Amino acid sequence: MKTKAAFVTSEDGPWHVAELELDPPKEHEVLIKYAAAGLCHSDEHLRSPGFWAGTARYPMVGGHEGAGIVQAVGESVTRVKVGDHIVCSFIPVCGKCRFCSTGLQGLCDSGSTLMQGNLTDGTYRFHLGDEDLGGNCMLGTFSEYGVLSEYSCVPIDPDIPLDVAVLVGCGVPTGWGSAVYAADVTPGDVVIVYGSGGIGSNAVQGAAYAGAKFLIVVDPVEGKRQFATTIGATHAVGTAEEADALAKELTRGVGADKAIITTGVVQSETISAAFNAIRKAGTVVITGLAGLNDININIPSGQLTLEGKTIRGTLYGSGNPLWEIPMLLGLYKEGRLKLDELVTTSYKLEDINEGYADMWAGKNIRGIIKF
Ligand SMILES: NC(=O)c1ccc[n+]([C@@H]2O[C@H](COP(=O)([O-])OP(=O)(O)OC[C@H]3O[C@@H](n4cnc5c(N)ncnc54)[C@H](O)[C@@H]3O)[C@@H](O)[C@H]2O)c1
Ligand SMILES: [Zn+2]
Ligand SMILES: [Zn+2]
Repeated sequence: MKTKAAFVTSEDGPWHVAELELDPPKEHEVLIKYAAAGLCHSDEHLRSPGFWAGTARYPMVGGHEGAGIVQAVGESVTRVKVGDHIVCSFIPVCGKCRFCSTGLQGLCDSGSTLMQGNLTDGTYRFHLGDEDLGGNCMLGTFSEYGVLSEYSCVPIDPDIPLDVAVLVGCGVPTGWGSAVYAADVTPGDVVIVYGSGGIGSNAVQGAAYAGAKFLIVVDPVEGKRQFATTIGATHAVGTAEEADALAKELTRGVGADKAIITTGVVQSETISAAFNAIRKAGTVVITGLAGLNDININIPSGQLTLEGKTIRGTLYGSGNPLWEIPMLLGLYKEGRLKLDELVTTSYKLEDINEGYADMWAGKNIRGIIKF
């Protein structure tokens, strides 16, 4: 069948929109009609020369936040059936590997070829002429239709609007889990969140839910700071220096308990600032990405040792998407988690370059494509 999709052909080119050929689903695969896709910053890293240090395969259909309805299933599919509403998990979850079976679904081994964009059997379903196209994170949600592994599907209640549920494919669980699991925010904590976009806003929601007493957001964009104070931030400042001073002031000089970095491209200076802003035995969580081979943690290890601090990374908020995605949508239904407010602008697929230009200009908390 045909599907209109947005893809990149090289790491220094724009998003192209064209009609592609899409194969039917094979064993353990499903055909999805997407209702919406989110414009996460991670897809733009595909257009950043050198970012993936040669590990990403081109051409690649973008998009790893997606929600839609199952149209057809291949042989042996058990997780979903035709008509089910699903949110895509941007890491496939097999349920059986060492990581899935020990509560670390976000690190499932079946996601090991995410940046190649193939399906779990190593082959491709999108084609343009003789050329095979991958799908970012083994998905490629910037497409009217997609074929994906059943491992990438998380069924959800059909009464939740798909153009809201889509956010719970990446931004919401990644940000939420960065605070709740990776940083382990506990009641009374003083928390700093660097960067308040699609991911950071949800780190704010997670930290507030977990009981942070003071929650300081750092973002150079005034609109992001203003928005953060409507979803749980108690303070919002423009620079890391101001956050450091504020955290010390609020803690009689002790420092923040937790610092979470969700900036669009993680800079060495932000990591150093976060390390200095936390107290003894505090934790810095790095959720934002930097170029794969950038050596950008410049920390005196002696201080790390003597102050017993932790610096850790997190993928998918260190959660379990199969459980997490329906759980977060349940909180949304109960009015405990804000999702509608996070969608700033909806775009047509053809306007994807404009959508990402708006992200870079700081205009969106999250932009989405509506099909
Ligand atoms: N670890 C994961 O599983 C995971 C998942 C999704 C996205 N990501 C990464 O998270 C990062 C954020 O993604 P997003 O979609 O929220 O991006 P975004 O562009 O929506 O948000 C980034 C925010 O950082 C702010 N910012 C930029 N420089 C800053 C600085 N020096 N100090 C403070 N704030 C600054 C921007 O103004 C913006 O509000 C990206 O690197 C993305 O690739 C990681
Ligand atoms: Zn993402
Ligand atoms: Zn697994």
